[in-house]
Amino acid sequence: MSEKIKTLYSPLSETKYELGPDKDGLVLALESSCDETACAVVKNGREVLSNIVASQIKTHQEFGGVVPEVAAREHLEAVNEVIAKALEEAKIKPAELTAVASTVGPGLVGSLLVGMNAAKALSIAFDKPFVGINHLHAHVCANYIDTGLEPPFIALLVSGGHTQIIKVTDYSDSEILGETIDDAAGEAFDKVARLLGLPYPGGPNLDKLADNGNPEAFHFTKAKVGEFDFSFSGLKTAVLMQIKKLNATGKKLPAEDIAASFRENITSVLAQKTKNAAEKFGIKTVVLAGGVAANSEIRRKIKDFENDGYRVYIPQMKYCTDNAAMIGACAYFHSDVYTSEGQEVFSRAE
Ligand code: KG4
Ligand code: ZN
Repeated sequence: MSEKIKTLYSPLSETKYELGPDKDGLVLALESSCDETACAVVKNGREVLSNIVASQIKTHQEFGGVVPEVAAREHLEAVNEVIAKALEEAKIKPAELTAVASTVGPGLVGSLLVGMNAAKALSIAFDKPFVGINHLHAHVCANYIDTGLEPPFIALLVSGGHTQIIKVTDYSDSEILGETIDDAAGEAFDKVARLLGLPYPGGPNLDKLADNGNPEAFHFTKAKVGEFDFSFSGLKTAVLMQIKKLNATGKKLPAEDIAASFRENITSVLAQKTKNAAEKFGIKTVVLAGGVAANSEIRRKIKDFENDGYRVYIPQMKYCTDNAAMIGACAYFHSDVYTSEGQEVFSRAE
């Protein structure tokens, strides 16, 4: 059982602060793990006073994906402005803060360094404690925003790099029940989008295309893996084979139908295994998290659990894909955080 309340000390005067459920806490949070530079101010883990996101989509579109070195440089250019905007919009003074938080991993190291060092610099400038956050914990914590959600719950975490079913027993106590053994859900969406010739970012574009297609047009097989594990690389290959077969006919590719059938396949596997986990452990609350939680079909399928008596939490779209509000929520609720200086921070968060 981990401690719910974190005791933190400011770097210069070593003033004591406390952060955690039922405490008053105001967090300035940064996120820069991939291609979004974001800063937010979050009160008591649930109330977002500001949420600024500078997206690098236009830059990476040229390359068809995120180029790490380019991403790091763009973070550097954007970071000061997003911090200034977040502070201004929240209408708070640095003196009112309880802590400054930032993602410390997992993510692109060059990108992480920018947000983390900016947060550490602010921590010193404002004389407020620094809190390092695990990006995956933060995605799940997005569900605390604007809600009264409390553990226990089952979380389906679906992002560009991870796919996990998690049993969350308390704010900082959880167990990964299963995860992907190859591609992450977001990665599968992005790869299939590329096969269909859709521009980066693939996931949202495929989602839109699928809305106009027939989900029953093609039946791709579902991988047989562990009870709560996933495998999507075979599905991606099956789509590729189907595309090749159709192209050989010389007819126009029914891209909408392929997109809809793929989306149906992957979201039904995700939803079914999440339901199985909730049933097995008798947990009646289910939450959705991560960039793929922005997918319209997985939102529908998880929301549908309500018809079977489940309480369902799905973050607003802006809190699904990468943002700093979720970092602020996590800094408040989670006690498995990194609080001092040093580079070992990366290995800890992986
Ligand atoms: O959580 P996130 O913003 O970044 C990571 O932590 O990875 O997730 C990004 C992933 C990308 O793979 C993106 O294509 C996917 O989320 N994604 C979607 C949708 N919106 C974002 N996938 C399917 N449908 C969407 N609407
Ligand atoms: Zn993410």
